[in-house]
Amino acid sequence: MMMKICVIGTGYVGLTTGAILADLGHEVFCVDKDKLKIEKLTQGEVPIYEPGLKELILRNKKNSHLHFSTDIQSVIKDCPILFITVGTPTNEDGSQNLTAINDVMDTLVQTVTSHKTIITKSTVLPGTNEWIQQSLIEKGIDSSLFDVVSNPEFLREGNAVFDMMNPDKIVIGVKSSKPIQVIKALYEKLHAPYIITSLTGAEMIKYASNAFLATKISFINEMARICDAYGVEITDIANALGRDKRIGPSFLNAGLGYGGSCFPKDVSALEYAAKQKRIVPEVLMAVQNVNDSQINLYIEKLTRKLTNLDGKKITVWGLAFKPETDDTRESRSLILINKLLKSGAEIHAYDPIVHLIEFPITIHQDMYEALKEADALIIATEWDQFKTVDWKKVKGYMKGNIVVDGRNIIDPKIVMNHQFEYIGVARQ
Ligand code: UDX
Repeated sequence: MMMKICVIGTGYVGLTTGAILADLGHEVFCVDKDKLKIEKLTQGEVPIYEPGLKELILRNKKNSHLHFSTDIQSVIKDCPILFITVGTPTNEDGSQNLTAINDVMDTLVQTVTSHKTIITKSTVLPGTNEWIQQSLIEKGIDSSLFDVVSNPEFLREGNAVFDMMNPDKIVIGVKSSKPIQVIKALYEKLHAPYIITSLTGAEMIKYASNAFLATKISFINEMARICDAYGVEITDIANALGRDKRIGPSFLNAGLGYGGSCFPKDVSALEYAAKQKRIVPEVLMAVQNVNDSQINLYIEKLTRKLTNLDGKKITVWGLAFKPETDDTRESRSLILINKLLKSGAEIHAYDPIVHLIEFPITIHQDMYEALKEADALIIATEWDQFKTVDWKKVKGYMKGNIVVDGRNIIDPKIVMNHQFEYIGVARQ
C-alpha cells in the first residue's frame, strides 16, 4: 500500500530513510529548514557520500516518489505519516540537545488537524519519546490526533542502503497497539522480524546495541594490549573468538578504536542516562577509557622509534572514521593527527574521499605522492586500497622506513620483507 510520508530533517538518517521508503513504493517528502540544502537536493546534488544513495535518490526523484521541500507545514498537513530524523547533539554535560525536536513539535502544534503517526528515528535518550508524547499534549494537540512511535535505525555508514533494505529486525516502541499495523504496512516489503516494545524499550535497544558493539571493540583492544606484552598475534585470537557462535566474528578488529557519529556519542549518552538514575555504569566507563587511550599506544610506539616527533614528516592514510564514507566525525584519524601536530610533527595525508579538513596539514590526491620524504606512514582507516599496497613504490617515496598499522590490515611479514619496520599492537 502506497503511503504519503513526510521525513523531517535531511541529515544522514533522514536522507537514507526517505530514499528507501520512496524506493519501497511510498510517496516521500523530505523537508528541512535549510533552504540551500533542499535546493541542492532538488537539483540532484547529494550532500553526503554513501554508496548507492545518490542513485536511489535520483531514481525516486525521477519517478516522483521522492520530493524535497522547505514548506514543512504544508507537507505535514498533507502526510499522515511523519518521521522525525533531526539531529540530537550532545550537550557539554552529556545531556541531549533537543532543540531541533522541540522546533518540530512547535511546528506540529501549529499544523496538525488530522491524525498523524509520528515516528522518531533520531537516536534519543531513554524517556524522550514519552516526553514527546506528553509535550505534544501539553502544547495543545489532542491525544486522539497522534500516535508516537519509536523506530530506531541500525544502519552503518557506508552500508546504510543495504542495512535499511535488509534489516535483521525492525524495532517498534509504542504506547498502544494502534500504530503497529501502520508501521507494518509501511515496511511490508521488508522481510524482518518485528520487536515490539515500549517507547523507552525501543530507545534502550538502540543504545544497548551500540554500547555492546563498542564494548566488543574495547574488549579486543584490551586483549591486544595483553597479547602485545606476551608476544601473541591478536588476529589469531580474534579469529578463534569469532568462530565461537556465541561470540560471533564481527567487531573484533583491534586497532585505533571506534569513532563515528554514533558509538562515542551513544556510549557517553548512555553513561549519562545511567548516572541520571544514580547507576554507575562501570562497563561503559571502562569501554570509553580503553577507546580514548588506544591512540596513545600507537603514538608512544612511534615516538620510541623516532626518538621524538618534533619536525618529523608523518603521512597518514585515511581520514574518514571508517571506509566507504566521507564522515570524519569523531574519526580516530583526526584525533591522532591532532596529537601528532601537538608534538610538532608535519602531517601529510591521503583519503580516497575526504579531501578537506580544518587542520593545518597537507592533503594529497595520490596515496603515494603523500609519502614523499616521509619518516613514517600511519594507516588510520581500513580502506580497501590500503590493503593492496605496492610496498616497493612506498619505499621509493619515503625517507624513513616505519609503517604503523592502526587497523591491522597489513601482514607485518610483507612489509618487513621490504625492509620496513612494522608498528602495531600485538602483531607478530
Ligand atoms: C554504528 C552501528 O554499527 C550502527 O548499527 C548504528 O546505527 C550506528 O553506529 P557506524 O557508526 O556507521 O555504525 O560504524 P561501524 O561500522 O559500526 O564502526 C564504528 C567504528 O568502530 C569505526 O570507527 C570502526 O573503524 C570501528 N571498528 C569497527 C573497530 O575499530 N573495530 C571493529 O571490529 C569494528
